[in-house]
Amino acid sequence: MCGIIGYTGKKLNAKNTVIAGLKNLEYRGYDSSGIAVNEDGNINLYKAHGKISNLENSLNGRDVLSSTAIAHTRWATHGEPNETNAHPHKCGSITLVHNGIIENYVELKNELLKNGVTFKSETDTEVACAYINYIYITEKNKIKCLAKACSIFRGSYAFAIIFDDEKDTIYATRKDSPLIVGLSDEGNFAASDVSAILDFTNKYILLEHGEFAKITKDDVKIFDGSENILEKEVKTATWSATEYKKNGYDHFMLKEINEQPDVIEKIFSRYLENPNYNEIDFSKFDAIHIVACGSAMHAGMVGKYLFQNYANIPVTVDIASEYRYSTQSITTSTLVIIISQSGETADSLAALRLAKDKGATTLGIVNAVGSTIAREADICIYTYAGPEIAVATTKGYTSQVAILSTLVINAMKQNSMLSNDLLNEIKNDFNNISSILKDIIKNKDIYVNAAKKIYEKNDLFFIGRGIDYAVCMEGSLKLKEISYMHSEAYAAGELKHGTISLIENGTPVIAVATNDDLYEKTISNIKETKARGAYSIFITTSNFDSSSFEDFSDISVILPKTTEFCQAIVVSCFLQLLAYEVAKLRNCDIDKPKNLAKSVTVE
Ligand code: F6R
Repeated sequence: MCGIIGYTGKKLNAKNTVIAGLKNLEYRGYDSSGIAVNEDGNINLYKAHGKISNLENSLNGRDVLSSTAIAHTRWATHGEPNETNAHPHKCGSITLVHNGIIENYVELKNELLKNGVTFKSETDTEVACAYINYIYITEKNKIKCLAKACSIFRGSYAFAIIFDDEKDTIYATRKDSPLIVGLSDEGNFAASDVSAILDFTNKYILLEHGEFAKITKDDVKIFDGSENILEKEVKTATWSATEYKKNGYDHFMLKEINEQPDVIEKIFSRYLENPNYNEIDFSKFDAIHIVACGSAMHAGMVGKYLFQNYANIPVTVDIASEYRYSTQSITTSTLVIIISQSGETADSLAALRLAKDKGATTLGIVNAVGSTIAREADICIYTYAGPEIAVATTKGYTSQVAILSTLVINAMKQNSMLSNDLLNEIKNDFNNISSILKDIIKNKDIYVNAAKKIYEKNDLFFIGRGIDYAVCMEGSLKLKEISYMHSEAYAAGELKHGTISLIENGTPVIAVATNDDLYEKTISNIKETKARGAYSIFITTSNFDSSSFEDFSDISVILPKTTEFCQAIVVSCFLQLLAYEVAKLRNCDIDKPKNLAKSVTVE
């Protein structure tokens, strides 16, 4: 949510360097962008509405050599996306870019207004900038000035700052929004994440809350708020620059869908019999709470189904933004599983911290190595899915489901609930998963034809029972977020309790029925929608008798049958491809859907 990069150095052109880095951060927000550059001793600001390419175009032809720059790509919180609200902001001798929300900005703004300060934008960021400037009038020690301002700010922030009297130095600090400091022989960086700097270096320092970086062309110092120098570990990024490129695919989403066969296969071989899992003794816990947002929460729903139905362990699944303010019982005997691709989602992080405060054991299922949730959870299981750039998650989600499957299998072993027959079936699936997913992707006609039948509709419903309901929740989210087609997912038996009134002639209903015991029940529910004119797309598995499908489906899609430890992944892969094709037919910006951003670091 908002991307920041700053660079200071002599060897590279700062303007071009930060624009290149900013492009790798565009997934964090893309409604406006801006840059502040030290050009021949003047801090000049350039801003543009919309994507970074607009900023780049507006800068074309300006080849002034610059040594220092800070840049920002925005996902608007306070104030609509326009050039005035775009970052950087400059107040007096301070220029800064910000990711996060200053929650007490109204109070601070009123204080500043009384002191004669005026504002141009509607943003909380300009208030933060003006407030730092206000403190700097009397506190000339820059670290102490920033420490004082940060002690007054409430909310979350990552700042990269240039002071007018030290134009080739970048100061940076953070709280609850990520920020790293990149190190290279060509100069040094501040950035929201490593993706921004990988074209230049893979060496970085993780900045923590309460730390202040002073970054110059050939030196980086990290201080605490009292200006004591801190020794920090220099880390090496595990992801490479090429992983951030489309590598020939039209979209990152398609590339990431195509990476799933490999990612999922690796997870199963890495974790099925991982001895580290033995440290998670499920018998120790009275309750398991799975907490996450969006697709990660949908992965949690699959996990809940598997834990309850196979390991006989009751599980609750909560949306992190609700859980963090709930009064439900979290005790020292609770296992709280936080699922997060980015490892930085503000609500999920707050839920993790709440659980830790209450003495629960916390387990993070995280993709981004070294992210805050990964570091703060008592136990972290990495999905190792590689960077996910498309805003809509695909491999991030299926890799979370895969990890949950292996956790449940481990819990079953501990409970002595895993028969040899089932284990063999599961192992067989795990051996075949890569080719199963590759076949689904390869059979393009099936999902392209289905997409052609539905892409002009306005509303669509997904129905399913049990694990299929959880999969429908994710399928529906995927479709609506990238194609802007209204879609809802319902437990198949629930539709008739109200929502069926929306079904009319031609309304598409995508029904998923993969579970042997629930199959016939779901068919009855499909027939109820057909009787009211629905256009039915039926997704099922190869073990059911296809001769009857025509009675209740306009299109039927038959996917390979697996155990339920893989089935959600198999069906989801198909639904991702369907959503992708629908979005393509509707000419949507697939990797950067409107109003969205990846890595939601604000509440
Ligand atoms: C949807 C999507 C989001 C994320 C959610 C949580 O495609 O990507 O719903 O799943 O914002 O993000 P993480 O997993 O980073 O915590």
